[in-house]
Amino acid sequence: MKIVVLVSGGGTNLQAIIDGINNKTIRNTEIVEVVSNNANAYALTRAKDNGIPGKCISPKEFADRDDFNKALVEEMDRVSPDLIVLAGFLVNIPAEMVAKYEGKIINIHPSLIPSFCGKGFYGLKVHEGALKRGVKITGATVHFVDEGTDTGPIILQKAVEVKPDDTPETLQRRVMEEAEWVILPKAIDMIATKGNI
Ligand code: GRF
Repeated sequence: MKIVVLVSGGGTNLQAIIDGINNKTIRNTEIVEVVSNNANAYALTRAKDNGIPGKCISPKEFADRDDFNKALVEEMDRVSPDLIVLAGFLVNIPAEMVAKYEGKIINIHPSLIPSFCGKGFYGLKVHEGALKRGVKITGATVHFVDEGTDTGPIILQKAVEVKPDDTPETLQRRVMEEAEWVILPKAIDMIATKGNI
């Protein structure tokens, strides 16, 4: 199964996928390209270090969002992956791409959807919301991407305990280590070995 991974930042979820392929917990899968909207994303360095083609397609390079959207869809069509994985990708996916790749785009969100998700809930803001509400359990979710924000069918979730002295940073780290880096590789392996799930 050919996958393209879309990234914006540090790429720790990308690294979990790379490691999963290397240690064979992710079967029948090849990362054929990493695409970032951010030229400085360390995720692109991780791709390079692992011999994976990397590309930056940034909205800043285009006259308007429509031109960016067109370029992103054209790149997906060029590579024609079996699965597109959003791993910390912070740009809205064009509706045309969602429609064209229906059921073939998955996303990792750092909360137990439907809590702390949707517009404005990304990165540390998700964990700030969880701490503000005082939840005792949070976690991560892998879901199919539909036309909404964090609204597509849920594939996997994993719960993580919130500790009394947690800060958004310590909670984010635990959710990444104990949940994101576990369920995203697992979801990819499930799709790669069982087709649609
Ligand atoms: C993190 O906030 C993670 O929870 C979310 O995207 C952000 C960056 O992750 N999925 P990564 O290190 O770039 O994979």
